[in-house]
Amino acid sequence: MSLSFSSTRNGSFLLLVVLLVIPSPAAGMWPPQIGWFCPGLVEPLLCVGNRADYWIESTCLAENTTSMQVLADFYFLTGNTYKTGALFDLGWLDDCDYCNWAGVTCNGLGEVTGLDVGGMDPPLVNKIPTELAFLQNSLKTLILSANEFEGKVPTELGLLYNLERMELHYNDLKGSMPEEVCLIGGFNGGGSKVYVSADCGRPDREFKCQMWTCCDACYLDSMRGMDPVEAAMLAQGGISP
Ligand SMILES: *[C@@H]1O[C@H](CO)[C@@H](O)[C@H](O)[C@H]1NC(C)=O
Repeated sequence: MSLSFSSTRNGSFLLLVVLLVIPSPAAGMWPPQIGWFCPGLVEPLLCVGNRADYWIESTCLAENTTSMQVLADFYFLTGNTYKTGALFDLGWLDDCDYCNWAGVTCNGLGEVTGLDVGGMDPPLVNKIPTELAFLQNSLKTLILSANEFEGKVPTELGLLYNLERMELHYNDLKGSMPEEVCLIGGFNGGGSKVYVSADCGRPDREFKCQMWTCCDACYLDSMRGMDPVEAAMLAQGGISP
């Protein structure tokens, strides 16, 4: 009886010591240490913490800006890893000069004005990152079409008040285009001032975007593979949602 009591106590004591010795993630030290292994083969197993932060901290901290943070977040949130993914293949994260990354355009201040990552192979996945809203001071063009984005379109995209063009068609989005997005820039003769395209052309498509008041082009899945110019003309012909 007395022996078993003392061994339980020793067990608890050991556990306490172990807990004190393991650095907590909140200490801000642990993810970078683990991150040391991220670029290697063990990356999928051991890479914890925020990979985008780790990449910036270890590679480009001196050049970090909001735009860099958003692009690095976007990279890891859309299915790319340190070794794989369409954006990896395009050379993103190869250097710190994100204005030269394929699909990225910037203004003279190094702020992102355009993100054109339509038709990626392999396709970009997961939800559309809400982090894009941090590009609100500069982003005018956002092309995410022909990928495998899923879930709802984030209402945060409505914060992109400089937006002029947003293409979301040929994805697996659900729900409706958020009112916040339709209202960017107000209305212009009954329609949104932003050119918006989406998969909104048929009752059997789950995504809804009101043609002419919010969406300027409605694509059907059956248009995939069609000549892009022909498909775009058909989509803008106002297939009623
Ligand atoms: C990069 O810069 C942005 C904007 O200044 C900041 O919010 C973010 O925390 C920085 N990221 C890192 C990893 O330092």
